[in-house]
Amino acid sequence: MNSPLPTAWLEIDLSAIQNNYRELCRISGAKVAAVVKANAYGHGLVEVAQAVLEAGGEWLAVARFEEAEQLRKNWIMAPVLVLGYTPPEQVVEAAKENIRLTLFDTQTAIRYSAQTSQRGMTVKVHIKVNTGMNRLGIAPQDAVEFTRWVSGLPGIEVEGVFTHFARADEPAADTTDRQIRIFDEVLASLRSVGIQPKLFHASNSAAVFNYPQAAYDMVRCGIALYGLHPSPETLLPATFRPALTLKTRLTSIRELDAGEGVGYNYRYYTSKKERIGTIAIGYADGFRRVMGNKVLVNGVEVPVVGSVCMDQCMISLDGIQGVQVGDEVVLIGKSGGLQRTVEDVAKEWGTVNYEVVCGMADRLTRRFIHSNDKKG
Ligand SMILES: Cc1ncc(COP(=O)(O)O)c(C=O)c1O
Repeated sequence: MNSPLPTAWLEIDLSAIQNNYRELCRISGAKVAAVVKANAYGHGLVEVAQAVLEAGGEWLAVARFEEAEQLRKNWIMAPVLVLGYTPPEQVVEAAKENIRLTLFDTQTAIRYSAQTSQRGMTVKVHIKVNTGMNRLGIAPQDAVEFTRWVSGLPGIEVEGVFTHFARADEPAADTTDRQIRIFDEVLASLRSVGIQPKLFHASNSAAVFNYPQAAYDMVRCGIALYGLHPSPETLLPATFRPALTLKTRLTSIRELDAGEGVGYNYRYYTSKKERIGTIAIGYADGFRRVMGNKVLVNGVEVPVVGSVCMDQCMISLDGIQGVQVGDEVVLIGKSGGLQRTVEDVAKEWGTVNYEVVCGMADRLTRRFIHSNDKKG
């Protein structure tokens, strides 16, 4: 439920996510699995999953079994694939809840099969092939034999075979073409021995744009679903809309004389008479403790001064007219004619947009809006 008066909050535009989901379907021409791991990249697991399903979505993907369980606890019964490792102790629950697991090694396969077949159950799995990411996956030269063997194990159904690209967001690199070639060879060999699982999938968001030939049956999209650019070299078309806004409030305003220190360790000194505001957001919210942060107040960009504290920080209000305690301050999003994007913040923090949104703390209130409803 939306809290009426939060102190620091995220506004999540579910209409934007639904729009982006439809765009990904249109552009890829394949099924789109909505990647909702890490609390839907900070946007809110359950609400985002529901919004995608409402927009016609079919598949969800998460990193961990616990995230899939959380979906089920919230009555989200759509097919969900756990992309990471799931311990065999959880396979019975997975089979019961129809949660699809990723499989890539013999020992785990034997243990999954023992657990489920004993109880007359079947778990659906997607076999992961390592075509070059070198993170998870069976070696390509073993993939056909492994898939054939797993298909014959009791209590396991091979529903999918997939891989993951390491550099799909760098169109100049030739390694994704190599990964696609290796995956294509595995698929051809599987078909030649009569193995044709329902779903082959490989692409993340960047690959949807840079490698349309790799859409196969399904693509797995996270960052583009949230309206964020896969990388500086792989920008989204203008039809995509960012979904997240980060806001807080001014909680205090004071006039300081020249030469006064501000905040812990006085990492800022006023050089003249200066108006300083305090805002209710800090590093415990995911607003990083680095110098050089900026925020928007009444359509003006102002600097954060001094160290970011755990729950608060200070900003310079010099020259800003008509502000008072309780006013909104925008850290990510639009204010007047100005906008600070997740990408702006990522650049200032020396990281990627993924890390900025995934770092948004649980304690931030998430207010869900439908921007489409506002329009006539
Ligand atoms: C296996 C896998 N597939 C798909 C994705 C989605 O990637 P993106 O957010 O770049 O679309 C991820 C995200 O890290 C992933 O780990």
